[in-house]
Amino acid sequence: MNITASTALPADHIEHAERTQRTKDNGVATFSPVGIIWLKLAVVYLIIGVGMGIMMGASQDFTMRPVHAHINLLGWATMALAGLIYSVFPDAGQSKLARLHFWLANISLPFMAIALGFVITGTAALVPVLAASEIVAALGILVFAANLFLNLKAR
Ligand code: HEM
Repeated sequence: MNITASTALPADHIEHAERTQRTKDNGVATFSPVGIIWLKLAVVYLIIGVGMGIMMGASQDFTMRPVHAHINLLGWATMALAGLIYSVFPDAGQSKLARLHFWLANISLPFMAIALGFVITGTAALVPVLAASEIVAALGILVFAANLFLNLKAR
């Protein structure tokens, strides 16, 4: 990725330009690289979620429906949206709250998906893991909300 600061831009735009990417026609795209890791992780969740959907359809066994739905909605949809929001609003994307959100979301979801899969197939012993991971996931959403309220700023 080629990220450059342009001397042709007014001084107060230089910091912004440092975080933007030149397009082929030499224009400046209005996004920063900060959301890329979110978008890449989101698409991994999409592959897993869609893979589960195809398996459910092929086997006509829909037991894992809630796992499929949470991987697609928390993993793909919510993380991709976070990635796009953090790309468009770098102040929010580079904040400490964004880092905390990242770890809360990405640690909780794998535990939550796996524990949910076990619990709905009869392993009640994993209910505490499910509950704990759900609380961590919800905390991540609250941190996301706080971050947007505090750090969404137009440039
Ligand atoms: C090729 C892609 C996909 C396939 C093959 C697929 C397949 C399925 C299947 C077979 C079911 C169960 C339907 C039933 O019980 O009658 C289902 C449910 C569901 N899917 Fe997908 N799906 C796909 C993509 C997605 C995506 C991208 C999302 C969300 C972003 C999503 C969200 C849901 C939700 C919310 C449910 C309902 C869960 C429930 O009722 O507990 N799916 N999907």
